[in-house]
Order: sequence, then C-alpha cells, then structure tokens
Amino acid sequence: MECDRLALVMRILTGIQPSGAPHLGNYFGYFKQNIELLGEEENLLMIADLHALTTMHDPEKLRQFRQDLSRDFLACGFDPARGTLFFQSYVPEHAELAWILSCVTPMGLLERAVSYKDKVQQGLEANAGLFSYPILQAADILIYDADVVPIGKDQQQHIEMARDIALKFNNRYGKDLLVAPEPKIAEFAVVPGVDGKKMSKSYGNTIPIFADEAVVKKAIMGIVTDSKGVDAPKDPEECIVYKLHALLLDKADRLALADKYRAGGLGYGDAKKMLYEAFMDYFGGMRERRASLKDREIFDVIEEGSKRARVIASQTMERVRTAVGLR
Ligand code: ADP
Ligand code: TRP
Repeated sequence: MECDRLALVMRILTGIQPSGAPHLGNYFGYFKQNIELLGEEENLLMIADLHALTTMHDPEKLRQFRQDLSRDFLACGFDPARGTLFFQSYVPEHAELAWILSCVTPMGLLERAVSYKDKVQQGLEANAGLFSYPILQAADILIYDADVVPIGKDQQQHIEMARDIALKFNNRYGKDLLVAPEPKIAEFAVVPGVDGKKMSKSYGNTIPIFADEAVVKKAIMGIVTDSKGVDAPKDPEECIVYKLHALLLDKADRLALADKYRAGGLGYGDAKKMLYEAFMDYFGGMRERRASLKDREIFDVIEEGSKRARVIASQTMERVRTAVGLR
C-alpha cells in the first residue's frame, strides 16, 4: 500500500518546542513566515512537547509553556480555519512511528547529528531521548506525508536525516511508502540580541514580544551601543538598535531612519525610545489580542487541531503497520 494521497495541494508541516517567552528573533525567524504561509497549502503547525521533554524536566513549566505558546500563535494571527495547530503528544502515533523508524535508522546517522553534540557541550543532560531526537522529528514529518518543512538553517540537518530515514524505510519495506520531505530554509537574517550575539533564550539577550511594558522597555534600553555622542554620525548597519528597529518598518521608513543615523544628531537614548514606540506600534494589536484570548478558546483550537492531525497520522500508521508486518 503506497502513499495514496492525491498530491493536489502540498502539505506543509513545521514544529517548534515550547521553551519559554517568544522574542523578536522567534517572531521574525519563525512565527511570521509560518503564519503568512497559511491557507495556500495544507498547513500543520505542531507544538513539540515530546521533544521538549529531552531538556525540560519541570512538569508545571512544560504545561505552562505549551499553553502559552498556543496563545502566542493565535495572538500573532494563526487562523485555525486556515491551518492546523496541535500538540505533538496529543497524537500518540508519533511515538509509535518513531520506534519503528528507530529500527531502520543506522547508529552512524545519529552519531553525525550536530545538534546533539552542541546541546551536550552546552551542559545539557546526555539522555537517550536527546540522542534519538532526530528520529522523533522524522516521525513528526513522515507521519503526515509532508512535502515541505519550513525551518531555520539550524534544523536543516534534521530534515536531511528525515529524508534519509524515509528512503531507508522505503528501501526495506516498499517503494513510495513514505514521502521524502524537502526543507524550506527561511531566508531571514539572524536577529541579533541586545548584546549583538544571536538573540536566544539560552543567551538571556532577548526582547520578549509579549512581556510587560516595563520588561520590554528595560530590554530595549539595555541594548549595547558604542560610545558615540549625540552629534556624531552613526553607521546604521553597525548598530544593533537600528537593526532591530529596521525589522519593524517598511522600506521607505527604514531608509529614512538610516539617513537619520548617518546625519548625526540622533543619540542612542532617543534612538532606543523610538525603537520602543515602533515595537509597541507593531506588536500592540497582537498584545491586546493575546490578553483577550480565553483559555477555553485556546483549548478548543488545540483539541480540534489535534483531532484533525490524528486522522491523518492514523491513516499513515495503518499503512506502516501493514508494511512492517504488525497487521
Ligand atoms: P531560542 O534560541 O530562543 O531557544 P528556539 O531555538 O526555540 O529559540 O527557536 C524557535 C524558532 O525561532 C526556530 O525556528 C529558530 O530558527 C527561530 N529563531 C530563534 N532565534 C532566532 C534569531 N535570533 N533570529 C532568527 N530566528 C530565530
Ligand atoms: N527540532 C525543531 C526545533 O528545535 C522542532 C521540531 C520538532 C520540528 N519536530 C519538528 C521542526 C518537525 C520541523 C518539523 O526548532
């Protein structure tokens, strides 16, 4: 039994771990384009709570982060009528497929994974879940016969591994049983943090998009700058304040702001105040929407999305169980 889905509409699947308050980097690197992709194709967006267990060992925190992330997506414009938002663990077939795939995955493939080595080097516990993380990620993708997986550059190797695993499976059990996915690497530049390194929760250098105003203001006022005085002309491309501000503007406003920097007369204190205002203009509507969403509404979206996802996943699993001899 081959994959028999009529390929009229492409299926897109992506995932994100619930790992804490989303920041400007997450928004411009992930949220925005996945929300813009909705509707044209069939879109599935998964909150990877099973993957989070590899590094998050506080149950209350996991529950909270997962709920918060669902709220964040809805606030940022995820429309459940145009895409499916769901929790990975609400579709238990992912774990079943991951086991079956682990039996076709060579150890050497996992040993080459850079993200495992990176995480262990950062001091994270080297548990077996962390090591086999790419197999669960392959299951996430293959269980939906996803054609395309939009991700950041850091996830490219994981998608290549999912392709390799699909091909190994097909080789052993039958041509065209699983669809080998293509990565779609986001073309955004990496968003810098307040210290100029990549913005990341793990570096503590973020500007969280939904934090209290005072927290946002403090983060923005803390952006590292050089010591040029108010009157000195400034190179916008060298300035973190400008780079972050530019993300929030259309082209004409961006060019005008860059001219202001070059002309001199704009001090960093004022530049940061302008960035704060632009931030609130940009995210104000989303922040209000986030505050007004009811827990019940969010729960219903996830329940409904997980049900929809599960229908697809169960069909693939029947195909897989039959192919491997469990039916
Ligand atoms: P963090 O590094 O803060 O823990 P995650 O690893 O959870 O963020 O990333 C979630 C998504 O956001 C990923 O798809 C990642 O590529 C994207 N992302 C994270 N930080 C940035 C950044 N500074 N610039 C652009 N995209 C980012
Ligand atoms: N590993 C991804 C990350 O850390 C999250 C993820 C889990 C994912 N399963 C996925 C991404 C499937 C794309 C497809 O960002």
